[in-house]
Amino acid sequence: MPIKLVTTAAALRTESARLLIEQHGGSQGLVPTMGALHEGHAQLARTAVEQNDVTVVSIFVNPLQFGEATDLQRYPRTLDADLELLEAEGVDLVFAPDVEEVYPNGEPMVRITSGKLAEKWEGASRPGHFDGALTVVAKLLHFGIPGACGNNGTPPHYRAYFGQKDAQQLTLVQRMVADLNFPVEIVPVPTVRAGDGLALSSRNRFLSGEEREAALVLSRALRLVEERANAHQPLDLDSAVALVESQPLVKLDYFEVVDPATLEPLAENCRETPFRGEGLAIIAARVGPVRLIDNVPLSS
Ligand code: PAJ
Repeated sequence: MPIKLVTTAAALRTESARLLIEQHGGSQGLVPTMGALHEGHAQLARTAVEQNDVTVVSIFVNPLQFGEATDLQRYPRTLDADLELLEAEGVDLVFAPDVEEVYPNGEPMVRITSGKLAEKWEGASRPGHFDGALTVVAKLLHFGIPGACGNNGTPPHYRAYFGQKDAQQLTLVQRMVADLNFPVEIVPVPTVRAGDGLALSSRNRFLSGEEREAALVLSRALRLVEERANAHQPLDLDSAVALVESQPLVKLDYFEVVDPATLEPLAENCRETPFRGEGLAIIAARVGPVRLIDNVPLSS
């Protein structure tokens, strides 16, 4: 079936209801995005299509989560190419509202407060970012609620898909849904990388050839730590940090190993003693004009 583009919440509800009835659907998946789609987004869409009767992808560049106006203005917008990519993945509906549809009364007065988890890492260098992101995710999760009873009066199962690439965002969305009882199952999707290891991101297009090459130290440093964790060795973060800092085009912001649930740094001792258990190695750095983030889950 050809993909359908809707721009209003009312049309999304009507079309979702129509599709669920038509396909005797018992489930609906939502993939929130800001467009400029790449293979990472495609993987989220593919997973949603596999797991649900109806799949909706939202495309909305959310002003509330951008700090600098210039960053918002230069965020890439590629709707035609996005639609083509999503159609090829078998997505049913694309919801691409304008700012007035999402924020009809201007900036919302009441918002999601993301709390302590949002104060560090990405939150520390981007004040207000996670409150803005969670507020729009809350709205998108509401917009995407399945439009009809697909199965003999039982409400369709509702899932939403988020990438592990943005680990702090994923953790915060999981906490929001749990803490505020949103009727949706959050499905994490592993990070998709280019062949050379660079995590895919809409911002990679702003890197020059030389900067892109330099940016590979992020994933290399993470892999070093991952290999040590797998071999039950001390993680020796200092040598991984030194690897990143050896690259003059890369300005490291943070590199840590944290508890995946709380995002608090793991006890110092895993640096010097053999690593066992669960962790998440996280990194952020500025490379040329962009800030890049990446992470790997550690389990040993
Ligand atoms: P955006 O950056 O467009 O990302 C949309 C989704 O794609 C997020 O869940 C993100 O984690 C996931 N994603 C991005 N790159 C990925 C990769 N290389 N591998 C796997 N998944 C990847 O994140 C946002 O938009 C916004 O904050 C949003 C949640 C839409 C709220 O505005």
